[in-house]
Amino acid sequence: MNNPPTLSRAALDILEQGEPLEKVRLSFNYAKDWKDGKITTIGKEAPLLRPARPAKPQLLDPARMPRRSTGKSGRIALLHAIAHIELNAIDLAWDIILRFSTGETSDEMPKQFFDDWVNVAKDEAEHFKILNEHLNNLGAQYGDLPAHDGLWEAAIKSDDDILARLALVPMILEARGLDTTPKTVAKLLASGDTKTAEIMQQITDDEISHVEAGVRWFEHICKIRGLEPIPHFHGLLKSRFKGQLKPPFAYDLRAKAGMDIGYYDQVS
Ligand SMILES: [Fe+2]
Ligand SMILES: [Fe+2]
Repeated sequence: MNNPPTLSRAALDILEQGEPLEKVRLSFNYAKDWKDGKITTIGKEAPLLRPARPAKPQLLDPARMPRRSTGKSGRIALLHAIAHIELNAIDLAWDIILRFSTGETSDEMPKQFFDDWVNVAKDEAEHFKILNEHLNNLGAQYGDLPAHDGLWEAAIKSDDDILARLALVPMILEARGLDTTPKTVAKLLASGDTKTAEIMQQITDDEISHVEAGVRWFEHICKIRGLEPIPHFHGLLKSRFKGQLKPPFAYDLRAKAGMDIGYYDQVS
């Protein structure tokens, strides 16, 4: 197969691919092509409103999600829900590359920006792959249960501004994962499920670097635009995110990701 001429075309190929394992395979291949210098130009392609997806899972309201309790069916529900998040996360990383590859001239992105999001996409592809394999080991597969569309709704709400996207996705939603996953890992270990606990721990370790990239680029672009990052983040939180940030926060992991406490634990 010929390499695509640009990174934007590679991103579009992946977003247009509805088959999850094919999305994963292409993500690994194109990430390697970028790393090896086989793809060197960014290019520009029109982004998609929604990425292609398989016919299943059915997308339902978040309130109608299967319970993630203990026991085998609860374990499958947990793994399935996280696998769905990871599949969305693959598309979100490529969508950032595709959608915000250029912008206002002053926002022109350096190569490091693309290195970071290609790496995030590769991690998310790895996460989906290991979760799907573990689901298969438990006799289930991605698509068996319903899922919800909250992540892609956040993507649509932030499709016009990279600062809104970075605020909503890595700095709010992925940072929320840092708050909640350690408790899930502890519960899994307490129930003796070391395999699932290991997978969740690996995901958390990787997610720290995704939040870190989000914070770093948010602050970089704020600087270019002459904005104060923390007040601007709070403005976006109010105007674009319907929920509140919910404590308890994983102060240690958020600090590892370089996130100032003022972003999430302000005394109002
Ligand atoms: Fe992930
Ligand atoms: Fe992530």
